[in-house]
Amino acid sequence: MAIYLNGQYLPIEEAKVSVLDRGFIFGDGVYEVIPVYSRKAFRLEEHLRRLQHSLDGIKLANPHSNAEWARIIDELVARNAGEDQYLYLHITRGVAKRDHAFPNPPVDPTVFMMSNPLLTPPAELLRSGIACITAPDNRWLRCDIKAIALLPNVLLRQMAVDAGCAETILIRPESTTEGGFMTEGAASNIFVVKNGTLLAPPKDNLMLPGITYDVVLELAAANGIPHEVRRIAVAEVFAADELLLTSSTKEVLAITQLDGKPIGSGKPGAMFARLHALYQDFKRDVMRA
Ligand code: PDD
Repeated sequence: MAIYLNGQYLPIEEAKVSVLDRGFIFGDGVYEVIPVYSRKAFRLEEHLRRLQHSLDGIKLANPHSNAEWARIIDELVARNAGEDQYLYLHITRGVAKRDHAFPNPPVDPTVFMMSNPLLTPPAELLRSGIACITAPDNRWLRCDIKAIALLPNVLLRQMAVDAGCAETILIRPESTTEGGFMTEGAASNIFVVKNGTLLAPPKDNLMLPGITYDVVLELAAANGIPHEVRRIAVAEVFAADELLLTSSTKEVLAITQLDGKPIGSGKPGAMFARLHALYQDFKRDVMRA
């Protein structure tokens, strides 16, 4: 498997980063996960726009123009096997003597990219849906930045795994779920379906602005599916007819159980079937274009 590190394409075993890298020491960096279908990066412009937003959020200059990113991505995809891949792109503030403040003068950032096979959810999971748990959202207040510092997300996601579930749905405020509202999943965005309307939480500082989330809302708009973007109370999550999960690697999944209780009929519903099908068609059309 070839990876990209600071201008070089290398076998992953040969890629080395200094122990003084600020990504290693402080988690001082940002990342992107970009799906590649039929060897073409999906929604690249949108992923690069979000990358710029994350870099701006941590006051780190973008080391490459979009044209340069596209070239690096094409090269990495070409050097890896498989029609469908997912790219992990990672930029840190570079290697410097340990000090919380930014290195002054700035040092070169560390730029790392790898490709892995993209394994979209199997048919069985699409038929059954997934079980999730809820937990207080105890992350910071800049969840719009795709930061590599993911310890809260790691611990929250592990809570789901320990409970035999697939994902943890996060509720703010942290102190109470009463009067709380849903933000997103530990590594995904979450939609509620009620009376035929698709409800989505707003893209504010409390959630990652998902690329898949945007595609789903665009598909709803283009296909006359009623949808609303607004805060969603925790009570509405439990009273939902359907719950949907989206991410670049999971695409669109139905959540059929929450904290051990069935959601709606306890089976993937009509809105899931419609949006999943629309998403697959959209992917196919984009890749053909
Ligand atoms: N995670 N919210 C969080 C906290 C996420 O980590 C992700 C994606 C999403 C969905 O965003 P998108 O649709 O752009 O993938 C929402 C990626 C897949 C990851 O960390 O592996």
